[in-house]
This record gives sequence, structure tokens and C-alpha cells, in this order.
Amino acid sequence: MADYDPQFDFDASRYVRPDAVHRAVYTDPAIFDLEMRRIYGRAWLYLAHESEFKAAGDYVVRHMGTQAVVLTRDGQGEVHAIFNRCTHRGTTLCAFDKGSAPHGHQCPYHGWMFEADGALRFIPHHTNYDGVLDRKDYAIEQVRLETYRGFIFGNLSGDRAGPLVDFLGHMKTTIDDLVDRSPTGQVEVGPYALRHYYRANWKMTFENLNDTIHPGFAHAASVVSAKSVAATLPRDAVVPSLGMMMANGKPIQFFQDLDMITAPGGHSYIGGHMGADYTPNTQDAYTAALIAHHGAEKARQVLSVDRHVMILYPSSFWHARYQTVRILRPVRHDLTEMIGFTFRLVGAPEETYVNAVEYCTGANSAASPVISDDLEIYERVLLGNASGGRDWIPTSRAINEDRERTNAYTRTPATSEAYIRNQFAAWSHYMGQA
Ligand code: FES
Ligand SMILES: [Fe+2]
Repeated sequence: MADYDPQFDFDASRYVRPDAVHRAVYTDPAIFDLEMRRIYGRAWLYLAHESEFKAAGDYVVRHMGTQAVVLTRDGQGEVHAIFNRCTHRGTTLCAFDKGSAPHGHQCPYHGWMFEADGALRFIPHHTNYDGVLDRKDYAIEQVRLETYRGFIFGNLSGDRAGPLVDFLGHMKTTIDDLVDRSPTGQVEVGPYALRHYYRANWKMTFENLNDTIHPGFAHAASVVSAKSVAATLPRDAVVPSLGMMMANGKPIQFFQDLDMITAPGGHSYIGGHMGADYTPNTQDAYTAALIAHHGAEKARQVLSVDRHVMILYPSSFWHARYQTVRILRPVRHDLTEMIGFTFRLVGAPEETYVNAVEYCTGANSAASPVISDDLEIYERVLLGNASGGRDWIPTSRAINEDRERTNAYTRTPATSEAYIRNQFAAWSHYMGQA
């Protein structure tokens, strides 16, 4: 495994204080480059779900920071990740986001052929290389992968990283929550991914998705619109995106009373705060299916978990109740891509999937009246922080209001900026190590 980390000291305390952060972390391209090596080069990053590889040769291209990797299922059923880069002259191997390559990946430049695990199988007109080059020396390097309940994570630092379960810690309970909601214990990724880009730093989404103060302001227009649309619908209509928009209009005291959980590694989630119903017939059929699989007690437990978005720093955002996982891809210091996936609960009524797609469309579509507010704010934060004025941005909201501390997590009011302080503690830890 190549070492992408230049050996120089980085003093994180010049940028992060316990109650503030320097604006340069959002605007400086040199800091972004170091983040790619030290944060995305060291953390476990969510990449794909096993259901994306149904047959031998199925592949997807995903990013680990700014580096593209190709994940492919081999003939023995194992999934491998290799860098998307031919070992001859460096051409990217796969041009598409996903596809099938049952005979291996062939470079379009001079036709070198690679196996799913990166082995170089074939060089056209190889006689020119006889006695010159050994194919074994030109395999594409593999990225270390580990899987938790069907979700595949990668780590660019190879054996130097600890196990995935240690990285997930308490947050694996949200992945459990998602999988346990399936009446068969199986979830399957849907066929469509919703993508959008925004013109701002990657950290903006991490700092926004557990921010409960902004919705009443940034999303005020969509609260009003959603209420007027909801007034025209039957009382029992279930429209998750409308539910999300109206929940954004709840009074701030509601969010102050709600809990936020932060955990080591920069991770966090907040309690659920939007309606989560299915139509009555679907709810009955779904509950019955869950009881058949789990038994009544476990089924009741599964249905009682109510969490809003979980932030899994620094790669992804998870909403178990709406079977939605969003992957964040940093492109430049001022450009970021978001990709949203929706999962089907295998064996559950179809409405549970439709409901999730509806939520994901509202939460991750470029046409969403909620996300479009956030994206404008992100860009304005970038522009503002790139201009003059004070350097330090406070992260002190509710800093003295923690409710409970354990080794696994800290519980705070959901209005706290504890999750941002927690992210920058992780940021400093990753960035400070040479
Ligand atoms: S660059 Fe890939 S085969 Fe030459
Ligand atoms: Fe928002």
C-alpha cells in the first residue's frame, strides 16, 4: 500500500479550539489536500452494499476521498476493491459508475486485462516484455475491506487501521436498526441513486444534517408550502417529504428537549422528529411480518427505535427508518458530491420501499425544496468565510449542557453543537498525526 502522507507536521490546534474553528478549514485548498490523505486516507469509509454485486463480474466505482476505486465480485463470490488505475500508464480502468465485467477489466489504452482482485492477467503482444517485465509485479493494489451486516467499508491505510467494528462503536446500532427492520433480515439496494453536487466544502453537510436550529429559518418557506399542500390531502395520507418539511417548523424548544448522541470518531445522531407512519393496512401487514421473523418482543423493540440522521464521519449519513444511506464525496475544497441510496426491506410490503424512495427524493434530490435551501446556505458560508473579518467561528452552542457521558457516547440536547465539536476532535486527531 502506497503511503500518501507527506511527512510534515500539522499543528491542528492552530485551526481548532475547544469552542471554535478557524475559517481556513473550509476555504484552504492545502488543508483539503491534507484532509484527503490524513482523514480519508485513515478512516473507514462506507463504499457499497453486498446486494450491488449479484453476479460474478458485477462492479461499481466509488470514491475514497478523491481516489476512485473499483469494487468487483470475483468468480468465488468475494468482493474486492482496487484502485481505478491501470498499472501501465495510469489510465482510469472503468469509465462507468457500475456495470458487469465477468472476464475482468480491460484498459482501453493498450488492452492490459486485470482480474477483480487486481491481478494482471494478460498483456497484448506480451513478447515485447519477455524477460523485461513480470506481470506479477504489475497487479493493481487492493484496498482493505471489511463488512458489517452486508455494508462494505474500505480503509486506505490497510493493516494500520483497527477493525471496522471498533470504528463503528455505538453507531453500529443504527446499521442494526436498518437491517433488523427487514422481516427477512435482508436489505437490498434499490436501482436508482440520487446525486447532486454543491459548491462548498465537504464538512458543511456533516455540520448541517444534525443542526436542529437552522430548519426553522433556512427552510421556513418549505414549511409554509408543505402545510398548505398537506391541507389539501386526505387526513391519513402518508407523504414523508411533506412530513420532513413540516417537522422543520417545530418550535426550537421541541428540539432542545430531544436528545443528540455523539460518539468517538466524529459520529452522531439525533432523536427522530418527523412522523413515521405507514398507511394502516401496510403497518398491520408489516408488523405481522416482523413478528413472524423476530418474535413479538424483538419486533416491538425494532419498531420503537426512532432516530433521525446518523452521521458516520467522514463518509456517510444513515436514516434507518427511511432505509436511506447517503455517501459524501469530496471533490475539491469548494465542490462536493452527494449520492443517495434507498434500500428495500426484503419481505416487507411494497409501501415501505415507496415510502423510503419518497423520503430520499425529498432529502437528497436536486429538486428537493429542502436541500436546495441548504445548498444555497453552504455556498454562502464558503463565500462568507473566504472574505475578510474575524477568523474564528464559534462552535460553542450548548457547550455546558451535556446530559450524560459514557465510554460509548455522550448525550446532549439536540440543539447542541456538540456534534460539530466532536467532528473537529476527530479531525484534529486524524490531521495531527504525521
Ligand atoms: S495505459 Fe493501460 S494498457 Fe496502457
Ligand atoms: Fe437543512
